Amino acid sequence: MISGDTSVQVRRMRPADVNAVVDWHMQSFPHGFYSRLGHDFMVRYVREHLRSPAAVAFSAVDPHTEMVIGYLLGSLDDDQHRAHKARHATVPLARAGAAALRRRPHMWGEFLRVRSLQYLRRLARDGLARRRPDAGTVEEAPRSAELLFVCVAPVHRLRGAGAALHDAFAHEAAESAATQLHLVTEIGNTVAIGFYQRRGWIAAVEVTGRDGRRLVRMVNHLKGVGS
Ligand SMILES: CC(C)(COP(=O)(O)OP(=O)(O)OC[C@H]1O[C@@H](n2cnc3c(N)ncnc32)[C@H](O)[C@@H]1OP(=O)(O)O)[C@@H](O)C(=O)NCCC(=O)NCCS
Repeated sequence: MISGDTSVQVRRMRPADVNAVVDWHMQSFPHGFYSRLGHDFMVRYVREHLRSPAAVAFSAVDPHTEMVIGYLLGSLDDDQHRAHKARHATVPLARAGAAALRRRPHMWGEFLRVRSLQYLRRLARDGLARRRPDAGTVEEAPRSAELLFVCVAPVHRLRGAGAALHDAFAHEAAESAATQLHLVTEIGNTVAIGFYQRRGWIAAVEVTGRDGRRLVRMVNHLKGVGS
């Protein structure tokens, strides 16, 4: 058990948690492209995430019912996580995505317009990176860790679960020698932005997502974490 009080416990995500995690994700982020690809795609996405050695994933559990009431997905090292995904997750995710799109033909237009170019660029970049000889300086490079998603079931919010998930991630990132955390969230998500600011994050830059959503990129320099 990583942390816990009487109302919530945070531990590493287990494969058996994935269905509940996906349910909460789809409820909390119903407009996200991955959510709209459906439950099966999301399960594959989370399972592939768990396989990455640079990934981190926590579940928040109600100690009385042992139900998963929240989760956090992140990576401890952007470069290593991206390299793992390129090598091992591209094919299974492409298959799952294609199956989801076959069942949702109305999403093909959006996929081609908003996503396909990005995926092709990523494939090209990852292919080049794979061919590049190891420069041998990876140890020296500053490490950046990403908080991808944090979510608590609506009826369990404001009881410290989100903070406990966040702090488990920040602590592990600091222990893993990450020098900075980063994330993007929607500018309109004032609850999340306030939540992050209370935990030491600062808004770095506003950006427009590929789908036109207005986003804010936030960073956390991990001051006072990990000691
Ligand atoms: C953001 C979220 C994870 C917070 O989870 P939570 O369990 O409610 O948060 P906590 O109870 O641990 O609260 C942590 C702090 O944030 C504050 N906070 C959380 N929600 C708040 C709200 N709606 N209004 C005001 N303050 C809030 C708490 O008061 C607390 O402050 P403190 O540290 O000074 O005591 C949750 O609201 C959520 O799942 N939102 C939907 C998903 C989402 O938007 N995720 C973020 C983008 S990936």
